Amino acid sequence: MTTRPRKPAPGTPAPGKLALPELAQLKARRQPIAMVTAYDAPSGRLADAAGADLILVGDSAAMTVLGHDSTVPATMEEMLVLTRAVTRGARRPLVVADMPFGSFQVSDEEAMHNAIRFVKEAGADAVKLEGAGSMLDRVRALVGAGIPVMGHLGLTPQSATMLGGYRAQGRTAASAQRLYDAGRALEAAGCCALVLEAMPSVVAERITRAVGIPTIGIGAGPSCDGQVLVWHDLLGLTPDPAPRFVERYAQLGTEIRSALERYARDVRDGTFPGERHSYGIPDAERAAFEK
Ligand code: KIV
Repeated sequence: MTTRPRKPAPGTPAPGKLALPELAQLKARRQPIAMVTAYDAPSGRLADAAGADLILVGDSAAMTVLGHDSTVPATMEEMLVLTRAVTRGARRPLVVADMPFGSFQVSDEEAMHNAIRFVKEAGADAVKLEGAGSMLDRVRALVGAGIPVMGHLGLTPQSATMLGGYRAQGRTAASAQRLYDAGRALEAAGCCALVLEAMPSVVAERITRAVGIPTIGIGAGPSCDGQVLVWHDLLGLTPDPAPRFVERYAQLGTEIRSALERYARDVRDGTFPGERHSYGIPDAERAAFEK
């Protein structure tokens, strides 16, 4: 009989899992960090097999998976289901759960309650939350409770309306300075990494140089310590045109549609299913059955 748990307890790194301090070491060694979003077990498994260091279960799921027009409607329950699926599929990458709008803004207590759910119920290794300013207290509270937190600055989609839409941030000296100060403040509050979204490359570069924690860019130029892209954008599953910071590494939308068209055609003309897709029955059993 063994007293050791078959699976590591929540909050305990699983065997083979990238250790959190390794992230800062990657930055120190100038080894670029690859992060990608994922929303289910197969995408978690594939991202792991492809060598991703970090997987973000982004609230972009509200748009890419659930069909909403923005990230705002994502709920805790939906994000928990998706995160749980990803952590079942991914072993080595650190899995970061995105805290949906409304799950952390109200109070430290609520943020703590929801972040703990991500770690305990869904096996997340860290959580991400958008913004600085009044969110710095949230970061301190979560980190104080032992939950690694990734910050998110620049274009923060949950507050896109306040920011004047989905547009690059930090394009005036004053707003660039605010982003720079916010990056340093998030590091001081205890963040383990920062997502920098849609800002001039030079601003991201200055923030990256000013902080000891890794910066992960999306539309923030090549000087960040790592890059993140949304699964559906990267693989060609979102409609054209893609935002300018997206590179399409595949056109899976076209591939999937053509496969589905061939399937429907085969069903309609009787080509599918064929002999090799069908089960037989021993002759004697068949004879008895026919009788
Ligand atoms: O929700 C998301 O996918 C994100 C990335 C764009 C960084 O926040």
